[in-house]
Amino acid sequence: MPQPRIPGRIPGDQLFFGRRKGRPLRAGMQALLDTRLPALAVPADVAGDPRGWFGRQMRAAWLEIGFGGGEHLAWQAAANPDVGIVGCEPFMNGVASLLRHLENDRLDNVRILADDARPLAAALPAGSLERIFVLHPDPWPKRRHHFRRLIQHASIARFHELLAPGGELRIATDDPGYLTWILARVTAHPGLRWTGARLADWHARPDDWPETRYEAKARSEGRDPVYMRFQKV
Ligand SMILES: C[S@@+](CC[C@H](N)C(=O)[O-])C[C@H]1O[C@@H](n2cnc3c(N)ncnc32)[C@H](O)[C@@H]1O
Repeated sequence: MPQPRIPGRIPGDQLFFGRRKGRPLRAGMQALLDTRLPALAVPADVAGDPRGWFGRQMRAAWLEIGFGGGEHLAWQAAANPDVGIVGCEPFMNGVASLLRHLENDRLDNVRILADDARPLAAALPAGSLERIFVLHPDPWPKRRHHFRRLIQHASIARFHELLAPGGELRIATDDPGYLTWILARVTAHPGLRWTGARLADWHARPDDWPETRYEAKARSEGRDPVYMRFQKV
């Protein structure tokens, strides 16, 4: 599959420790990957304004990192047709699932990087995103795996650079250990402000934040997700 040429790219395998493939795809899903993904892939040169990647000029560009099955991304794309949404996901079964949503809902405002988001995040222009979503990133609970966590001081600093003034970083997790880790890193950054008023706001899912597949599973297993919104100040 053609992958975008990203300046300064680090081969994904050095950074990404998750799964790239799951159950063999049904023929229809594989056909979607073969026929639809090339046209929807992020451009080879990602150093320009991402609002121009969508065949029509978009009001804003948003980024979702690790979109899983793509339910949240497709919902946001349908609800915000004037926004171009870039989704990154190395798990190809998830990419195929997003493509099916895009086909079914006839959405034309999505571009996909079927790979690790970090080289893309390193290459996009500063201030080019209005929103960044990191929903239920893999918690990597063992201490020796903490370096694999997507949320690090450096990634938070990069998200801050990528956001336009007033832009929003949304993070969700159901893992108490990762929650503490995330809060320590985001609150250490002076340029991001939590938008909630009181602690209970953490557990109230905003209306424009649909449930993800992972979240539904966590809830059914008795784990309560936390929804965090941080604004670039
Ligand atoms: C626990 S799942 C959550 C999926 C989805 N956000 C949800 O809530 O249902 C974490 C996802 O992040 C993806 N992921 C992990 N590291 C990533 C990276 N560096 N870039 C992009 N996606 C990544 C994984 O492949 C996986 O699909």
